Amino acid sequence: MSEPQPIYLSDYRPPAYRVIRTELSFDLDPAATRVKARLHLERHPEREAGTPLELDGEQLDLKAIAIDGQVLGEDEYAVGEAGLIVHRVPQAFLLDTEVEVAPDANTALSGLYRSSGMYCTQCEAEGFRRITFYPDRPDVMAPFSTTVIGDAATLPVLLSNGNPVERGELPGGRHFVTWEDPHPKPSYLFALVAGDLEKVEDRFTTMSGREVTLQLFVEEENLDKTDHAMASLKRAMTWDEQTYGREYDLDLFMIVAVNDFNMGAMENKGLNIFNSAAVLTHPDTATDAAFQRVESIVAHEYFHNWSGNRVTCRDWFQLSLKEGFTVFRDQCFSADTNSAPVKRIEDVSFFRTAQFAEDAGPTAHPVRPDHYIEIGNFYTLTIYEKGAEIVRMLSNLVGEEAFRRGSDLYFSRFDGQAVTIEDFVDCMAEASGEDLGQFLRWYSQAGTPEIDAHGEYDYANAEYRLVLRQRTPATPGQAEKQALHIPVRLGLVGTKSGRDLPLTLDGEALGTDAVIHLREDEQEFVFTEVSEAPVPSLGRGFSAPVKLHFPYGREDLAFLQAHDSDGFNRWDAGQRLALLALDDLIAAHRNGVEKVMDPRVVEAFRGVLEARIDDKAVLAQMLTLPSEAYIAEQQPLVDVDAIHAARTFVKQSLAASLRDDFLRLYEQNRSEAPYAPQPEQIAARSLKNVALSYLMAIEDEAGLELAQAQFAANHNMTDVRHALTLLVHGSRGDIADPALKAFGEKWVHDPLVMDQWFSLQVTRPQADVLDRVKFLMAHPAFSLKNPNRVRALIGAFANQNPVNFHRADGKGYRLLADTVIELNRLNPEIAARLITPLTRWARFDETRQELMKAELERIRAEELSPNVYEVVEKALA
Ligand code: ARG
Ligand code: ZN
Repeated sequence: MSEPQPIYLSDYRPPAYRVIRTELSFDLDPAATRVKARLHLERHPEREAGTPLELDGEQLDLKAIAIDGQVLGEDEYAVGEAGLIVHRVPQAFLLDTEVEVAPDANTALSGLYRSSGMYCTQCEAEGFRRITFYPDRPDVMAPFSTTVIGDAATLPVLLSNGNPVERGELPGGRHFVTWEDPHPKPSYLFALVAGDLEKVEDRFTTMSGREVTLQLFVEEENLDKTDHAMASLKRAMTWDEQTYGREYDLDLFMIVAVNDFNMGAMENKGLNIFNSAAVLTHPDTATDAAFQRVESIVAHEYFHNWSGNRVTCRDWFQLSLKEGFTVFRDQCFSADTNSAPVKRIEDVSFFRTAQFAEDAGPTAHPVRPDHYIEIGNFYTLTIYEKGAEIVRMLSNLVGEEAFRRGSDLYFSRFDGQAVTIEDFVDCMAEASGEDLGQFLRWYSQAGTPEIDAHGEYDYANAEYRLVLRQRTPATPGQAEKQALHIPVRLGLVGTKSGRDLPLTLDGEALGTDAVIHLREDEQEFVFTEVSEAPVPSLGRGFSAPVKLHFPYGREDLAFLQAHDSDGFNRWDAGQRLALLALDDLIAAHRNGVEKVMDPRVVEAFRGVLEARIDDKAVLAQMLTLPSEAYIAEQQPLVDVDAIHAARTFVKQSLAASLRDDFLRLYEQNRSEAPYAPQPEQIAARSLKNVALSYLMAIEDEAGLELAQAQFAANHNMTDVRHALTLLVHGSRGDIADPALKAFGEKWVHDPLVMDQWFSLQVTRPQADVLDRVKFLMAHPAFSLKNPNRVRALIGAFANQNPVNFHRADGKGYRLLADTVIELNRLNPEIAARLITPLTRWARFDETRQELMKAELERIRAEELSPNVYEVVEKALA
């Protein structure tokens, strides 16, 4: 096999042939589905006559081909591994093809496949070429007509994009439905579903008074798990009308839940297809986090109807154009419907842990990459989350009103077109009058910028001098970096008053909370008329996706934690304070010195508990220690055992010192009220469960009793799962094992709960876990073909159990590599994603580095899919 070759953004050329209209017909069969395609094609005016027609196509068995009704002779076309070439075609013509595909053999879950007996599709990014020969690129947009033919008894529901226009019976017990999608779309937004599905229906009246039918299709046993998704959809539709002036544009909007799905969900025009984990909820089976995730994913996919479908990407290098913008939109939506500060804290904690790690590793890439081998590898935290942070910076830079004018301009100017990231940024520049030239570098430069900040207060002149220095570390292929335009929101908190001081910069009064613009490598900002010595609060609200270093002392951090007017930075000050204490304890552990708890951290926590913080969700966050993964992210060299020991020590020390407070918090926040996924309830549960985690850290009688009682009370999955996890992760097997067994037996028929059952066992920090992982992989309910199960078992073990995955004997690495090798054949996209923790080898000690690289080499020796090849080559480069 020849090595897969990269493709480059700089090689972009508009398509030689446009598709004016696409007509498809599917005759469904598990092993041999027939796909007929009639394409109305036209040569691009700028291309010369005689340009061959090249269509993408993979693993298609071509049965017939004709142009304008004339069957082509064998010398008139050629079929290769990647597609079809017709050597001579007219200027405008009809192309008819018929191919055969095998849905049941499709374990990659890209193209047309079967999941729990139903047929479904996943076409983004390049799955459509596994369905029929086509110019499978987003800048080719056409209206589609799709006829789906299937067995009437087993496949009563036949769906595709748009509106149903015709249906009827056929001989042999078959039936058909024809769908028309009037909106021109690229092939990646095509979808088809066929199965024995139940339907939940609702209605929505748009702002202009049009009636839209909303349908959710699920397997019968899941009919009681659709309420929340439907309610979320309606909230999202209203929000997009109010916030962006965007209205839905078809008479019908459908969502289908499928059990085997590579990602969360897919925004196919009018027919969104969801991983069942991203749409189904029930108080007894889904946690609060799952309810919130469903709400945000339903909104995300719905929002794509404008940011992605009506206006789409010119090429896949522009992926963040739709994903970054849409994540920003869903984040704002969730902030508006839940606790906004907590939404920001959660998003940023996740971002700083996972995206920073990606940006610092061998697969780092710009938000707009300039080359790739396999686009399926670029559905990353950088494209999605960093892309969203860039849009957020834009929105803050130009201001909310100009941002709305800019987005209106973008949607109207480019409606029905496939465009670039510049087009989007240009609209923002035009609407605001801002010069965003330097800002564009955020899209082309990889790596996390770091700001070293220093400040000095000059009593005599009442001045505060702040010096900011920026640098972006080298990343693969980008040794030199240019200065970025970084918005830094800040305040100066007076140490006497505990208040934000008025900010005067260059004679201009900026209020008490302002944004300064760092554009040079180094800049000095002199604030005048500063009446008392301040502690600076920098990067408020995480105003830019950077690492901000300031030589804060522990007193400064405790002070900010108590006084900062910015909720995000109050929380962050607590995190920084905990990290300083953890640093000492990690060092103590490594040096074999007795660990001593810093009393200032205990006092700071006591302060948080005593402060009157109204938002219980914020309070829960402030009481939560940085995760082991985030602590690791701060260390020069990751020592998983020392990190685990240090964090456990802090938790136990806090629990011992503040036990009564945690007990009180627990009691004050328990409730018998019927479960609702409402912000106030969620907040109270999170606070109660944080308290329980501390009590269980010391496993005294009270903690154990509460955890057992909470599990037994069986009030809702959030509480049950939290209690069970604490018990299983604790030391009392005599209590945990029967609970785990009962839980597994009760939910054996519910795959989404069983995923949780798998995960909570393999994330156990105790040393026996590797055997448990192997045992569970042999469990009848485990299958490598189901991505949710792979993530719940292997993914959870490798990503959420650092001490066991990084065992010094390398057996954790070996298990992961074995799984990757097997999955490489079955599902390359999932296989490639699973490698991630091994790619981070440079962060560990030499012994582990060697072990991890040896596993990567072992993978490399296999015959690899382009997906796995690309990741492994980068990891070993
Ligand atoms: N566009 C989808 C979303 O963001 C994700 C599609 C992912 N496709 C893939 N092959 N990984 O909602
Ligand atoms: Zn998306």
